[in-house]
Amino acid sequence: MSKRAIVTGISGQDGSYLAELLLDQGYEVVGVTRRLSAPNHWRIEHLLDRITLRPADLLDQLSLIRVIDEVRPHELYNLAAMSFVPASWDQPLLTGEYNAQGVTRVMEAIRQVDTSIRVYQASSSEMFGKVRETPQTELTPFYPRSPYGVSKVFAHYITVNYRESYDLFAVSGILFNHESPRRGLEFVTRKVTHGAARIRLGLADTLSLGNLDARRDWGFAGDYVRAMWLMLQQDRADDYVIATGKSHSVRELVEIAFSHAGLDWRAHVRTDPALLRPAEVDHLIGNPARAEAELGWRPSVDFEGLVRMMVDADVERLSAAR
Ligand code: NAP
Ligand code: GDD
Repeated sequence: MSKRAIVTGISGQDGSYLAELLLDQGYEVVGVTRRLSAPNHWRIEHLLDRITLRPADLLDQLSLIRVIDEVRPHELYNLAAMSFVPASWDQPLLTGEYNAQGVTRVMEAIRQVDTSIRVYQASSSEMFGKVRETPQTELTPFYPRSPYGVSKVFAHYITVNYRESYDLFAVSGILFNHESPRRGLEFVTRKVTHGAARIRLGLADTLSLGNLDARRDWGFAGDYVRAMWLMLQQDRADDYVIATGKSHSVRELVEIAFSHAGLDWRAHVRTDPALLRPAEVDHLIGNPARAEAELGWRPSVDFEGLVRMMVDADVERLSAAR
Protein backbone atom coordinates (compact mmCIF):
# COMPACT_ATOMS: atom_id res chain seq x y z
CA MET A 1 0.00 0.00 0.00
CA SER A 2 1.43 3.39 -0.95
CA LYS A 3 1.82 6.06 1.69
CA ARG A 4 -0.28 9.24 1.57
CA ALA A 5 1.11 12.66 2.44
CA ILE A 6 -0.46 16.08 2.81
CA VAL A 7 1.78 19.03 1.94
CA THR A 8 0.60 22.48 2.99
CA GLY A 9 2.30 25.26 1.02
CA ILE A 10 2.70 22.96 -1.99
CA SER A 11 2.62 25.94 -4.37
CA GLY A 12 5.76 27.36 -2.71
CA GLN A 13 9.42 26.68 -3.46
CA ASP A 14 9.84 23.84 -0.96
CA GLY A 15 6.38 22.38 -1.58
CA SER A 16 7.18 21.85 -5.25
CA TYR A 17 10.49 20.05 -4.57
CA LEU A 18 9.00 18.00 -1.75
CA ALA A 19 6.07 16.91 -3.94
CA GLU A 20 8.57 15.69 -6.58
CA LEU A 21 10.51 13.73 -3.97
CA LEU A 22 7.40 12.14 -2.45
CA LEU A 23 6.06 11.14 -5.89
CA ASP A 24 9.44 9.56 -6.67
CA GLN A 25 9.11 7.59 -3.40
CA GLY A 26 5.69 6.28 -4.53
CA TYR A 27 3.55 8.46 -2.27
CA GLU A 28 0.06 9.66 -3.04
CA VAL A 29 0.48 13.44 -2.65
CA VAL A 30 -2.30 15.80 -1.61
CA GLY A 31 -1.41 19.48 -1.69
CA VAL A 32 -3.25 22.06 0.37
CA THR A 33 -3.76 25.44 -1.26
CA ARG A 34 -5.63 28.48 -0.05
CA ARG A 35 -8.22 30.04 -2.29
CA LEU A 36 -6.82 32.75 -4.57
CA SER A 37 -8.68 34.68 -7.29
CA ALA A 38 -6.24 33.19 -9.82
CA PRO A 39 -4.20 30.00 -9.35
CA ASN A 40 -0.54 30.31 -8.47
CA HIS A 41 0.70 27.00 -9.86
CA TRP A 42 3.84 27.92 -11.79
CA ARG A 43 6.07 25.78 -9.59
CA ILE A 44 3.83 22.69 -9.66
CA GLU A 45 2.36 22.94 -13.17
CA HIS A 46 4.40 19.89 -14.24
CA LEU A 47 3.00 17.83 -11.33
CA LEU A 48 -0.71 18.66 -11.60
CA ASP A 49 -1.65 15.38 -13.27
CA ARG A 50 0.07 13.40 -10.47
CA ILE A 51 -1.03 15.24 -7.33
CA THR A 52 -4.40 16.22 -5.86
CA LEU A 53 -5.05 19.75 -4.63
CA ARG A 54 -7.46 20.41 -1.76
CA PRO A 55 -8.54 23.82 -0.46
CA ALA A 56 -7.75 24.73 3.14
CA ASP A 57 -6.32 27.73 4.95
CA LEU A 58 -4.10 27.96 8.01
CA LEU A 59 -6.50 30.61 9.32
CA ASP A 60 -9.45 28.22 9.22
CA GLN A 61 -9.44 25.38 11.77
CA LEU A 62 -12.39 23.54 10.26
CA SER A 63 -10.90 23.49 6.78
CA LEU A 64 -7.76 21.83 8.17
CA ILE A 65 -9.71 19.24 10.16
CA ARG A 66 -11.84 18.45 7.11
CA VAL A 67 -8.96 17.89 4.72
CA ILE A 68 -6.98 15.79 7.21
CA ASP A 69 -10.05 13.73 8.09
CA GLU A 70 -10.91 13.10 4.44
CA VAL A 71 -7.37 12.31 3.27
CA ARG A 72 -6.18 10.45 6.41
CA PRO A 73 -2.51 10.89 5.51
CA HIS A 74 0.37 8.95 7.01
CA GLU A 75 2.50 12.09 6.98
CA LEU A 76 1.78 15.83 6.94
CA TYR A 77 4.40 18.41 5.97
CA ASN A 78 3.40 21.87 7.20
CA LEU A 79 5.28 24.21 4.88
CA ALA A 80 2.63 26.92 4.45
CA ALA A 81 3.63 30.26 5.95
CA MET A 82 4.11 33.94 5.33
CA SER A 83 7.81 33.44 4.58
CA PHE A 84 9.18 36.87 3.63
CA VAL A 85 10.85 38.46 6.67
CA PRO A 86 10.36 42.20 5.75
CA ALA A 87 6.62 41.65 5.21
CA SER A 88 6.36 40.52 8.83
CA TRP A 89 7.06 44.08 10.04
CA ASP A 90 4.29 45.37 7.76
CA GLN A 91 1.80 42.72 8.89
CA PRO A 92 2.90 41.42 12.29
CA LEU A 93 -0.55 40.25 13.41
CA LEU A 94 -1.29 38.34 10.23
CA THR A 95 2.20 36.82 10.36
CA GLY A 96 1.42 35.52 13.85
CA GLU A 97 -1.95 34.16 12.75
CA TYR A 98 -0.42 32.22 9.82
CA ASN A 99 2.93 31.19 11.19
CA ALA A 100 2.25 30.75 14.91
CA GLN A 101 -1.45 30.00 15.53
CA GLY A 102 -1.68 28.40 12.07
CA VAL A 103 0.68 25.72 13.37
CA THR A 104 -1.41 25.23 16.52
CA ARG A 105 -4.40 24.70 14.22
CA VAL A 106 -2.51 22.05 12.24
CA MET A 107 -1.35 20.25 15.40
CA GLU A 108 -4.81 20.44 16.94
CA ALA A 109 -6.41 19.06 13.76
CA ILE A 110 -4.04 16.09 13.84
CA ARG A 111 -4.68 15.54 17.54
CA GLN A 112 -8.42 15.47 16.92
CA VAL A 113 -8.42 13.34 13.75
CA ASP A 114 -5.62 10.78 14.22
CA THR A 115 -2.61 11.02 16.51
CA SER A 116 -0.68 8.47 14.45
CA ILE A 117 -0.16 11.00 11.61
CA ARG A 118 3.50 12.06 11.52
CA VAL A 119 3.95 15.81 11.15
CA TYR A 120 6.85 17.98 9.98
CA GLN A 121 6.95 21.66 10.96
CA ALA A 122 9.00 24.08 8.83
CA SER A 123 11.07 25.90 11.42
CA SER A 124 13.76 28.40 10.56
CA SER A 125 17.27 29.60 11.35
CA GLU A 126 15.65 33.06 11.70
CA MET A 127 14.79 31.84 15.22
CA PHE A 128 18.49 32.24 16.13
CA GLY A 129 18.41 35.91 15.03
CA LYS A 130 20.95 37.79 17.13
CA VAL A 131 22.95 34.64 17.56
CA ARG A 132 23.98 33.39 21.01
CA GLU A 133 26.69 31.08 19.66
CA THR A 134 28.39 30.24 16.37
CA PRO A 135 27.74 27.91 14.63
CA GLN A 136 24.15 27.29 15.69
CA THR A 137 22.98 23.82 16.78
CA GLU A 138 19.74 22.27 18.01
CA LEU A 139 20.71 23.48 21.52
CA THR A 140 21.51 27.13 20.68
CA PRO A 141 19.07 29.50 22.46
CA PHE A 142 16.74 31.51 20.21
CA TYR A 143 16.81 35.32 19.89
CA PRO A 144 14.49 36.20 16.99
CA ARG A 145 14.83 39.65 15.40
CA SER A 146 11.59 40.01 13.41
CA PRO A 147 7.90 39.24 13.86
CA TYR A 148 8.57 36.39 11.41
CA GLY A 149 11.30 34.97 13.65
CA VAL A 150 9.13 35.37 16.75
CA SER A 151 6.23 33.58 15.06
CA LYS A 152 8.52 30.68 14.11
CA VAL A 153 9.76 30.35 17.70
CA PHE A 154 6.14 29.95 18.84
CA ALA A 155 5.58 27.40 16.07
CA HIS A 156 8.69 25.47 17.07
CA TYR A 157 7.66 25.24 20.71
CA ILE A 158 4.03 24.37 19.99
CA THR A 159 5.35 21.50 17.85
CA VAL A 160 7.59 20.31 20.69
CA ASN A 161 4.70 20.77 23.13
CA TYR A 162 2.26 18.64 21.11
CA ARG A 163 4.95 15.98 20.85
CA GLU A 164 5.48 15.98 24.60
CA SER A 165 1.82 16.46 25.63
CA TYR A 166 0.07 14.10 23.21
CA ASP A 167 2.89 11.84 22.05
CA LEU A 168 2.54 13.05 18.44
CA PHE A 169 5.35 12.17 16.04
CA ALA A 170 5.92 15.89 15.50
CA VAL A 171 9.31 17.18 14.33
CA SER A 172 10.68 20.66 13.86
CA GLY A 173 13.22 21.03 11.06
CA ILE A 174 15.38 24.07 11.76
CA LEU A 175 16.34 24.84 8.19
CA PHE A 176 18.86 27.47 7.20
CA ASN A 177 18.30 29.50 4.00
CA HIS A 178 17.76 27.32 0.97
CA GLU A 179 17.33 28.56 -2.56
CA SER A 180 16.72 27.42 -6.12
CA PRO A 181 15.57 28.68 -9.51
CA ARG A 182 12.05 28.43 -8.01
CA ARG A 183 12.80 30.90 -5.21
CA GLY A 184 10.46 33.92 -4.99
CA LEU A 185 11.84 37.06 -6.66
CA GLU A 186 11.83 39.09 -3.42
CA PHE A 187 14.46 36.95 -1.64
CA VAL A 188 18.02 38.17 -2.05
CA THR A 189 19.51 35.22 -3.95
CA ARG A 190 16.85 35.21 -6.65
CA LYS A 191 16.71 39.01 -6.72
CA VAL A 192 20.44 39.00 -7.47
CA THR A 193 20.47 36.16 -10.03
CA HIS A 194 17.39 37.52 -11.81
CA GLY A 195 18.83 41.05 -11.68
CA ALA A 196 22.17 39.90 -13.13
CA ALA A 197 20.37 37.99 -15.89
CA ARG A 198 18.27 41.05 -16.78
CA ILE A 199 21.34 43.27 -16.96
CA ARG A 200 23.24 40.69 -19.02
CA LEU A 201 20.34 40.59 -21.53
CA GLY A 202 20.08 44.39 -21.70
CA LEU A 203 16.69 44.48 -19.95
CA ALA A 204 17.97 46.60 -17.03
CA ASP A 205 21.10 48.50 -16.03
CA THR A 206 21.08 48.63 -12.23
CA LEU A 207 20.07 46.52 -9.23
CA SER A 208 19.26 48.03 -5.81
CA LEU A 209 20.09 46.04 -2.70
CA GLY A 210 20.14 46.55 1.07
CA ASN A 211 22.79 45.22 3.46
CA LEU A 212 25.66 43.66 1.49
CA ASP A 213 27.47 42.56 4.68
CA ALA A 214 24.79 40.17 5.95
CA ARG A 215 25.98 36.54 5.94
CA ARG A 216 23.86 33.43 5.46
CA ASP A 217 24.39 29.69 5.29
CA TRP A 218 22.80 29.10 1.87
CA GLY A 219 21.98 25.66 0.45
CA PHE A 220 19.93 24.13 -2.35
CA ALA A 221 16.19 23.57 -1.68
CA GLY A 222 16.24 20.18 -3.45
CA ASP A 223 18.69 18.91 -0.82
CA TYR A 224 16.71 20.36 2.08
CA VAL A 225 13.37 18.69 1.26
CA ARG A 226 15.21 15.34 1.40
CA ALA A 227 16.07 16.17 5.02
CA MET A 228 12.39 16.88 5.78
CA TRP A 229 11.39 13.46 4.48
CA LEU A 230 14.23 11.71 6.34
CA MET A 231 13.10 13.29 9.63
CA LEU A 232 9.70 11.62 9.34
CA GLN A 233 11.24 8.18 8.56
CA GLN A 234 13.11 7.90 11.89
CA ASP A 235 12.15 5.67 14.83
CA ARG A 236 11.99 8.66 17.15
CA ALA A 237 10.71 12.22 16.60
CA ASP A 238 13.40 14.86 17.15
CA ASP A 239 14.44 18.31 15.93
CA TYR A 240 17.29 18.84 13.47
CA VAL A 241 19.39 21.72 12.18
CA ILE A 242 19.75 21.50 8.39
CA ALA A 243 22.56 23.64 7.00
CA THR A 244 25.73 23.44 4.91
CA GLY A 245 28.05 24.62 7.72
CA LYS A 246 29.45 27.40 5.49
CA SER A 247 28.39 31.03 5.29
CA HIS A 248 28.81 33.74 2.65
CA SER A 249 28.01 37.44 2.50
CA VAL A 250 25.45 39.06 0.21
CA ARG A 251 28.47 40.80 -1.40
CA GLU A 252 30.04 37.41 -2.25
CA LEU A 253 26.69 36.28 -3.67
CA VAL A 254 26.61 39.37 -5.90
CA GLU A 255 30.23 38.90 -7.03
CA ILE A 256 29.69 35.26 -8.04
CA ALA A 257 26.35 35.89 -9.77
CA PHE A 258 27.51 38.92 -11.75
CA SER A 259 30.82 37.38 -12.71
CA HIS A 260 29.01 34.23 -13.91
CA ALA A 261 26.80 36.52 -16.04
CA GLY A 262 29.97 38.14 -17.46
CA LEU A 263 29.42 41.44 -15.62
CA ASP A 264 31.33 43.70 -13.21
CA TRP A 265 28.91 44.08 -10.28
CA ARG A 266 30.41 47.42 -9.20
CA ALA A 267 29.12 49.02 -12.39
CA HIS A 268 25.52 47.97 -11.73
CA VAL A 269 24.75 47.40 -8.03
CA ARG A 270 23.48 50.27 -5.87
CA THR A 271 22.67 50.18 -2.18
CA ASP A 272 19.38 51.64 -1.03
CA PRO A 273 18.86 52.46 2.68
CA ALA A 274 15.12 51.81 2.21
CA LEU A 275 15.99 48.11 1.85
CA LEU A 276 17.68 47.90 5.27
CA ARG A 277 15.67 46.09 7.97
CA PRO A 278 14.55 47.58 11.31
CA ALA A 279 16.55 44.82 13.04
CA GLU A 280 19.01 42.76 11.00
CA VAL A 281 20.18 39.18 11.42
CA ASP A 282 23.88 39.66 10.69
CA HIS A 283 25.29 36.18 10.45
CA LEU A 284 23.76 32.71 10.40
CA ILE A 285 25.79 29.53 10.10
CA GLY A 286 24.51 26.12 11.12
CA ASN A 287 26.13 22.95 12.40
CA PRO A 288 24.39 20.00 10.68
CA ALA A 289 26.32 17.33 12.66
CA ARG A 290 23.22 15.72 14.19
CA ALA A 291 21.48 15.50 10.80
CA GLU A 292 24.61 14.00 9.26
CA ALA A 293 25.02 11.43 12.04
CA GLU A 294 21.37 10.42 12.57
CA LEU A 295 19.71 11.06 9.19
CA GLY A 296 22.73 10.42 6.99
CA TRP A 297 21.92 13.76 5.33
CA ARG A 298 24.50 15.79 3.43
CA PRO A 299 24.04 18.64 0.94
CA SER A 300 24.96 17.89 -2.68
CA VAL A 301 25.17 21.42 -4.11
CA ASP A 302 27.73 23.99 -2.92
CA PHE A 303 27.22 27.76 -2.82
CA GLU A 304 28.95 28.58 -6.12
CA GLY A 305 27.12 25.76 -7.87
CA LEU A 306 23.82 27.02 -6.47
CA VAL A 307 24.37 30.61 -7.61
CA ARG A 308 25.51 29.52 -11.07
CA MET A 309 22.48 27.22 -11.39
CA MET A 310 20.16 30.12 -10.52
CA VAL A 311 21.83 32.60 -12.89
CA ASP A 312 21.72 30.07 -15.75
CA ALA A 313 18.04 29.35 -15.11
CA ASP A 314 17.17 33.06 -15.06
CA VAL A 315 19.12 33.78 -18.26
CA GLU A 316 17.41 30.85 -19.96
CA ARG A 317 13.92 31.82 -18.76
CA LEU A 318 14.30 35.49 -19.72
CA SER A 319 15.83 34.61 -23.11
CA ALA A 320 12.94 32.25 -23.85
CA ALA A 321 10.40 34.92 -22.88
CA ARG A 322 11.94 37.48 -25.26
P1 NAP B 1 7.26 30.10 -0.09
O1 NAP B 1 7.86 29.80 -1.42
O2 NAP B 1 6.97 31.52 0.28
O3 NAP B 1 5.89 29.26 0.02
C1 NAP B 1 4.98 29.47 1.08
C2 NAP B 1 3.75 28.65 0.83
O4 NAP B 1 2.81 28.88 1.91
C3 NAP B 1 2.99 29.00 -0.45
O5 NAP B 1 2.55 27.79 -1.04
C4 NAP B 1 1.80 29.81 0.06
O6 NAP B 1 0.69 29.75 -0.77
C5 NAP B 1 1.52 29.08 1.36
N1 NAP B 1 0.66 29.83 2.29
C6 NAP B 1 0.92 31.05 2.82
N2 NAP B 1 -0.08 31.39 3.64
C7 NAP B 1 -0.99 30.38 3.62
C8 NAP B 1 -2.24 30.16 4.27
N3 NAP B 1 -2.79 31.05 5.11
N4 NAP B 1 -2.93 29.00 4.03
C9 NAP B 1 -2.42 28.09 3.19
N5 NAP B 1 -1.24 28.25 2.53
C10 NAP B 1 -0.53 29.38 2.75
O7 NAP B 1 8.17 29.50 1.07
P2 NAP B 1 9.28 28.33 1.03
O8 NAP B 1 10.60 28.96 0.78
O9 NAP B 1 8.81 27.23 0.18
O10 NAP B 1 9.30 27.89 2.55
C11 NAP B 1 8.46 26.82 3.02
C12 NAP B 1 8.38 26.88 4.54
O11 NAP B 1 9.69 26.76 5.09
C13 NAP B 1 7.83 28.18 5.11
O12 NAP B 1 7.12 27.86 6.28
C14 NAP B 1 9.07 28.98 5.47
O13 NAP B 1 8.77 29.92 6.48
C15 NAP B 1 9.98 27.88 5.94
N6 NAP B 1 11.42 28.10 5.79
C16 NAP B 1 11.94 28.43 4.58
C17 NAP B 1 13.31 28.59 4.46
C18 NAP B 1 13.94 28.95 3.14
O14 NAP B 1 15.10 29.37 3.13
N7 NAP B 1 13.23 28.77 2.01
C19 NAP B 1 14.15 28.39 5.57
C20 NAP B 1 13.57 28.03 6.78
C21 NAP B 1 12.21 27.86 6.89
P3 NAP B 1 0.38 30.84 -1.95
O15 NAP B 1 1.01 30.24 -3.17
O16 NAP B 1 -1.10 30.85 -1.96
O17 NAP B 1 1.00 32.14 -1.52
N1 GDD C 1 15.28 40.21 0.42
C1 GDD C 1 16.36 41.00 0.35
N2 GDD C 1 16.41 42.00 -0.61
N3 GDD C 1 17.38 40.82 1.22
C2 GDD C 1 18.47 41.61 1.11
C3 GDD C 1 18.57 42.62 0.14
C4 GDD C 1 17.48 42.83 -0.74
O1 GDD C 1 17.49 43.71 -1.61
N4 GDD C 1 19.78 43.24 0.29
C5 GDD C 1 20.40 42.63 1.30
N5 GDD C 1 19.61 41.65 1.81
C6 GDD C 1 19.94 40.81 2.97
C7 GDD C 1 18.86 40.84 4.06
O2 GDD C 1 18.98 42.02 4.85
C8 GDD C 1 19.18 39.55 4.81
O3 GDD C 1 20.18 39.80 5.77
C9 GDD C 1 19.76 38.63 3.74
O4 GDD C 1 20.00 39.45 2.59
C10 GDD C 1 18.81 37.49 3.33
O5 GDD C 1 17.53 38.00 3.05
P1 GDD C 1 16.38 37.10 2.38
O6 GDD C 1 16.87 36.47 1.14
O7 GDD C 1 15.16 37.96 2.29
O8 GDD C 1 16.20 35.90 3.41
P2 GDD C 1 16.06 35.88 5.01
O9 GDD C 1 17.35 35.33 5.56
O10 GDD C 1 15.55 37.15 5.56
O11 GDD C 1 14.89 34.81 5.22
C11 GDD C 1 14.88 33.58 4.48
O12 GDD C 1 15.57 32.58 5.19
C12 GDD C 1 14.97 32.22 6.45
C13 GDD C 1 15.87 31.15 7.08
O13 GDD C 1 16.96 31.77 7.72
C14 GDD C 1 13.41 33.22 4.24
O14 GDD C 1 13.34 32.12 3.36
C15 GDD C 1 12.72 32.81 5.53
O15 GDD C 1 11.40 32.31 5.24
C16 GDD C 1 13.56 31.71 6.19
O16 GDD C 1 12.96 31.29 7.39
